[in-house]
Amino acid sequence: MATLKIMLLLCAWIAAGMAHPFHDDDNLAQHLHSPRALKRIGLGGAFHEINVDSGTEKHSRDTADDDQPWCILVSRILNTSSNTSSCDGARYPNECRTASQAAPFIYASWSKYKIDSMATRAALVSLMLYESSKFKYNWGHFVGDETVHTPGKGTRNMQSATYNEEYATTLYGADKVAQAKASGGADGVLTLVSGDEDSFGSAAWFITSQCTESVQQGVASGTQEGFEEYITSCIGTKMNQDRLDLWKNATSAWGV
Ligand SMILES: *[C@@H]1O[C@H](CO)[C@@H](O)[C@H](O)[C@H]1NC(C)=O
Ligand SMILES: *[C@@H]1O[C@H](CO)[C@@H](O)[C@H](O)[C@H]1NC(C)=O
Ligand SMILES: *[C@@H]1O[C@H](CO)[C@@H](O)[C@H](O)[C@H]1NC(C)=O
Repeated sequence: MATLKIMLLLCAWIAAGMAHPFHDDDNLAQHLHSPRALKRIGLGGAFHEINVDSGTEKHSRDTADDDQPWCILVSRILNTSSNTSSCDGARYPNECRTASQAAPFIYASWSKYKIDSMATRAALVSLMLYESSKFKYNWGHFVGDETVHTPGKGTRNMQSATYNEEYATTLYGADKVAQAKASGGADGVLTLVSGDEDSFGSAAWFITSQCTESVQQGVASGTQEGFEEYITSCIGTKMNQDRLDLWKNATSAWGV
């Protein structure tokens, strides 16, 4: 309970200081980590319970994830990849999102697609971090070492054109997708799902609509085997060390 109270306090403090906590808080990550922030809320070492999730208060932590998503989720993302604290120097600055900008949209996708498992949440965030290079990219810009955009490829899990067309159709209907395609081709369709809500929601849509029940259960089990099966048999690509490192960091951040 103590952990929960501290988290609520912290969230209230952040909210009070910001007119638009979700969109205009590029500096939230820095606030969260700055000694000034810790001093101001007077929590000292207790902050680490919030940020790090020691694993000793699983229940209150999970509740907090549901009650104050934009707060606890930010710290979990940062703990998975500290690179998400800033977009400084991003090659496509208008595509980059920090952890604090991304969190509310990712959280919204948990309820939209009923992603209740902490292990699945961790796996999806690790996948998005990998595919979008720590949320730096929204569209696919690279093939091998070349700067090449494959038409239609994008969103935070870097879905290919075929999937983005299916995703856009479920969200906006066949007519709107056909119109977008007629005027802008595959990138016209991609544009439909490139807003933050859809783009940070596509990983959750993908696993629930494209992966078998058994793959989904494997991911929810939190085992490395289950995660690897998801990558190789449903995402359809090779497992590698970066994917694994991010997944390990995420499972630890989510207390899996
Ligand atoms: C995440 O938390 C763990 C546990 O305290 C810590 O060892 C690790 O350095 C943190 N990672 C990041 C990227 O903040
Ligand atoms: C994130 O990584 C990119 C590319 O490696 C680097 O240029 C940038 O400085 C990093 N940002 C942070 C906040 O670590
Ligand atoms: C995982 O977290 C550690 C620190 O806790 C960090 O050094 C490492 O870069 C992270 N891994 C990835 C793939 O970001």
